Order: sequence, then C-alpha cells, then structure tokens
Amino acid sequence: MVERVNVEDTIKDPVEKFRISYEYMKFIFDYAPDAYYLLDSEGTLIDANMAAERLTGYKKEEFIGRKIVEVGILAQDHIPKALKLLAKNALGEPSGPDEFILNRKDGKEAIVEIVTYPVEIKGKKLILGIAHDITERKNMERKIKEYSENLEKLVKQRTEDLEKTTKFLEMIIENVPDLMYIKDRDLRYVLVNESFCKFFGLPKDKILGRTLYDIASKDLADYFTKQDMDVLKTKKIFYMPEATLRDASGTKRVLCTTKAPLRDEEGNVTHIIGVTRDITENKRMEEELLKAERLAAIGETAAMVGHDLRNPLQVLMNLVYLAEEVLKNSSRECLDLLEKHGLSDLCSRIRDQIGYMDKIVSDLQDYTRPFKLSIEEIKLKEFLNSIVENLTIPDNVKILNEVGEDMYISVDRLLMTRVFVNIITNAIQAMPNGGNLTFRAYERDCWKCVSISDTGIGIPKENLSKIFTPTFTTKAKGQGFGLAVSKRFVEAHNGKITVESNLGEGTKFIICIPSRGV
Ligand SMILES: Nc1ncnc2c1ncn2[C@@H]1O[C@H](COP(=O)(O)OP(=O)(O)OP(=O)(O)O)[C@@H](O)[C@H]1O
Ligand SMILES: [Mg+2]
Repeated sequence: MVERVNVEDTIKDPVEKFRISYEYMKFIFDYAPDAYYLLDSEGTLIDANMAAERLTGYKKEEFIGRKIVEVGILAQDHIPKALKLLAKNALGEPSGPDEFILNRKDGKEAIVEIVTYPVEIKGKKLILGIAHDITERKNMERKIKEYSENLEKLVKQRTEDLEKTTKFLEMIIENVPDLMYIKDRDLRYVLVNESFCKFFGLPKDKILGRTLYDIASKDLADYFTKQDMDVLKTKKIFYMPEATLRDASGTKRVLCTTKAPLRDEEGNVTHIIGVTRDITENKRMEEELLKAERLAAIGETAAMVGHDLRNPLQVLMNLVYLAEEVLKNSSRECLDLLEKHGLSDLCSRIRDQIGYMDKIVSDLQDYTRPFKLSIEEIKLKEFLNSIVENLTIPDNVKILNEVGEDMYISVDRLLMTRVFVNIITNAIQAMPNGGNLTFRAYERDCWKCVSISDTGIGIPKENLSKIFTPTFTTKAKGQGFGLAVSKRFVEAHNGKITVESNLGEGTKFIICIPSRGV
C-alpha cells in the first residue's frame, strides 16, 4: 500500500519532494513515462526505470554500477557537457533541460532533453536524471525546418525565375522593331516600347498615362481611336494590313497594325494590346521587285525584238545607201527631177529615222542585257577626246577638256564609252543655244572622279531624283534610258554617279570609280 502524501501542502522544493517517500518515488520512478535514472555523485548508474530501458534499448542491469559517461550510451561529443553537469550536481545544483543524443542499443539515435536534480536518499547524495524523449519532436522540427528551407529556396528560385522571365519579356518588348503598346479602357497608354517612342519622337514619360490625342495629330488620333473603340465594342482582334502615316520626322511610313483585346478572368476587356509593324521597306522592296520583274520582261522582249529588228534595220540602211548611190550616178536631168521631188532629203530623213530606231533597240538592250566587264587602263583625256570626235558637236558648243595628262582610269572601254556618250549627248541637248561643255578629273579619297559640266538649261529640283529612272524623259523623242543605262554601267564598275544642277545655269554629272580598280 502506497502512502499518499500531500506534497503540495508540505514541501515545494522538488528535491525535498522526492525525499518524502521512497516507495512513492519508486512507484513514480518505475512507471513514469519519461526515462528516470539515479546516479551517485561519481556518475555511476544506480538505478533506471522502465522508460529508460525503452528509450535506450538496454536492460538497466547492463549499466548498473558503471559510470554513465563511460558506457557508450552518450554520444561522444556530448560527454564533456555531461561531465560539466555532473560537476554542477555535485555542488547540489539541478541542471537542465539540456539536449543530449543517446546511442541506442539498436544502433539508432535518440534525442533527449535531460533535467537533473541532486537528491539525498538514506543520507546518500544522489542525482536523479529525467530524460524526455524528444526524438520525434526533433525529427519533426528538422523536417519542418528542411521543408521551410526548401520552400524558401523554391520561392526564391521561383521569384528569381519570374524576375528573369519578366526582365526577358521586358527586354523583348523593349527591343522589338515593331511598335508595341497597351492601352487601358480610357485609351491611355500603360505600356509602350522604344520603337513606339521613336516613331512619335517622344520619351516614355511623355506618353504613358496619355492618349493618342496628346501625342499625335487629331486626324491620326481620330483614325486610330475608332479602331480602338471597335476592339472594345466587338471584343475581337482588329487587323489593318496597311496604312500610310508620317512619323515624328515627317517621313511617310507604311504601317501594318494588329490590335487585340486583353480580358480579365471574367472575360471583360480591360486593355487593348497593339503591335504595329513598319512595312515601308517591304513595300519598297515589293515595288522594286515588281519593277525588276517588269524590266526583266521588257528585257526579254527587247532582246527578242532587238535581235529581230537589227537585220531589217541593217537591210534598210543598205537600201538607203544604194538609193543614194543610184542618185549620185544618175544623169543630170534625172537627178534634177528627183531633187525637185526632194528625194535626197527623203533618203536622209529615212536614214535618221533608221538611226533613231537603232538607238531605241540599243538603249533597251543596254539597259537589260547581261554583260561582263573587260577592264583596261585608259588615259582619260584621250578617251574623252576620241568620244567627242565621234559625236556631232554643234558649232556653238565649246568643248573644254581640262583633264590632266596623267589621269588614267581602269574601266571597260565599251561600257564607259556608252556612259560618256549618253551624258555628253544630254549636255549638248541641254544647250540648244550653245554653251560650254567642260571635262575635269581629280582623285579624292579612294575615288577617281570625272565631271562633265554644261552651261545648259539645268534640271528642276523635283526631277533630280527621277532622272536615273528608266523611261523618265522630258524630251519629245527621248527614251529616258540614257542615264538609267549610264548608272547601271557605272555601278557595274563599283562606281557612283551623281548630279548637281542649277536651273538656267547648267548641270554637272560626276562619275567616280574606285581608284584601286573594280
Ligand atoms: N545635262 C542635262 N541638262 C538638263 N537636263 C538633263 C541633262 N541630262 C539629263 N537631263 C534630264 O534627264 C532626263 C533623262 O535623261 P536620259 O538621258 O535618261 O533620257 P533622255 O535623254 O530623255 O532620253 P534618251 O533615252 O534618248 O537618252 C532628260 O529627259 C532630261 O530631262
Ligand atoms: Mg539622254
């Protein structure tokens, strides 16, 4: 029979509490849920309860009489701490709770929290140790810690990924050549990219929060706002394949626009996203291609027609020559009669017209036929003189060949002859009342340049950009191929041809060929 003692009434000190009844203590001791053990002041195990056996997996008999720090139950690195606490107990002080790792008999580890109390039993100073198994709690704590650390890592990683993706997206939006923008329902810009700012010639902070009316002309704003309203109303994607507008610098640009509604989770349109592509260059290329295709077609026809016409033209030329020979050899009376009817004049007009037809065929062929350069070094001054000699120069046109004797150019003789003939012919035609035709040459940077200046009628400003275009002519009998052919041939030499002109004063064409040759 265990005597019940009301410890609450008598003693508050836990050390004293255990001294009250050995039996009572023994009962509590044996059946306590925590591991209880008794050590003597040297740290030798005197007794342990059932929970201690369960905790360690050892029978208490295996350790009784042995020093607790020597039996191997305490983790090696915890022994100094245990010794310190034993010393504390020896001074009559309790300790703990302190955490220790125990090596169980089955090789596993147990984590415990130990409190100790110095007690006196039958006049002997002993130490009561209570070890509370916190392995489970510790494992849980460790797992929770691991889990939260992982979670933290994951969140950090995800945040970084998100930041990276956001930055990447921002970089794409910022750098795409297309104009990109997002407007809210009030049609105020909430996002615009660099290309958009460039087009309107405004910094971002002058665009964000504003509408198109604040940054563009009313006409343009009206035009685009109508589309925005349509997108908001129909909630459908709007596509405008082509529209011509002027950018900040006033340059005409051809734009292709797509606008799409952005919806919230309930499907309400909250924003409009727009992408506008500048297709000016594509359009220009398309037109160039069309032109090239047209010219290729002309070329094919020209080659065919030219080839077929050349022979009959030659025959006609021979026939005129024969007719003139017959005329020359006719008797005086016959000649007078034929002259009376203007036959020799007719013959020369026929010859002119044949020459004209021949020129048409040559021009067309020159502009379209493929060719290969045959480069030779030519003394420029003599070259120009020989060209002039073969042309009919009116008396009122004075040729001033000021090219230096030492100027040589490496070119294809035949092609450059065509170029100079065309330009000189134009110059003469531009001086119906006579004037000066001056040739000069100089070497500058990596170029050898020849200038051909006339004192003729000049070219109106609005025509300057057109004169190298095939078929552009201001002359009644012009083909408009002369300069186009010249440009083609000069560029085939990797050269360039430019023009300066003052209306009523004259025109200067400058041909530059790379000094080091083609
Ligand atoms: N020296 C010049 N002075 C004034 N206008 C010129 C001069 N050279 C060229 N032009 C202008 O450039 C146009 C195009 O010249 P281009 O030589 O290509 O054709 P064209 O002379 O009209 O005809 P063609 O095919 O017979 O040469 C001319 O019609 C003329 O208006
Ligand atoms: Mg011409």
